[in-house]
Amino acid sequence: DKKISIAIDGPAAAGKSTVAKIVAEQLGYIYIDTGAMYRALTLKAINNEISLEDEAALVDMLSSTTIELFPGEKGQKIFLDSVDVTEDIRRSNVTNSVSIAAKHKEVREEMVRRQQGFATGGGVVMDGRDIGTHVIPTAEVKVFLLASVEERAVRRHNENLNKGFESDLEQLKSEIAARDKLDSEREVAPLKKADDAIEIDTTSLSIEDVVGEIMGLTEDKI
Ligand code: C5P
Repeated sequence: DKKISIAIDGPAAAGKSTVAKIVAEQLGYIYIDTGAMYRALTLKAINNEISLEDEAALVDMLSSTTIELFPGEKGQKIFLDSVDVTEDIRRSNVTNSVSIAAKHKEVREEMVRRQQGFATGGGVVMDGRDIGTHVIPTAEVKVFLLASVEERAVRRHNENLNKGFESDLEQLKSEIAARDKLDSEREVAPLKKADDAIEIDTTSLSIEDVVGEIMGLTEDKI
């Protein structure tokens, strides 16, 4: 079989990483979570008291920062300068400010360079906001996953409760909506469906349904 690239984009908490991981596993491909890279940078900036509005300082910091993604038993592990930050990057202080760090042109240029390095040779499933439009515009399969804000908030809420975390549904709704707004309205590489991406509204679909659709699109290309 030919090793292709699969780009999965969409708004916050649309289930991109869940389905991307399963698709990658089924195909024996590498899964790359590009959001985790922006989250790791944001975490480091917060820890070093660097303003997320300060593009020059962020770019300078990024130039001496390593961000590594390793496949693990329970999904991907994220290492920031050799330290495991897999859990830290999911905390709300990072989630609610990552879109500020991600809006800067030069930050994105460096991230895209790194992401393109991971994608050379194909055999990758990459998820994010600009994969089909900017990172791998030549991806053989491009998917744009959508779901209503309500549905996405409820899913995240249930996930939190299952993990034993505190969770406030109304707050989740407004945080998800706010992040979507920042990501869609930024000037550089905003969240947008690529013209040639297939849109899948997952609101009333199961994970298996969505994986099945993407596998179907993939089988036509390999
Ligand atoms: O996918 P995830 O929700 O972890 O992404 C966190 C944030 O990183 C997004 O809200 C967005 O601001 C940024 N991001 C991005 N481009 C990507 C992936 C994520 O701007 N390709």
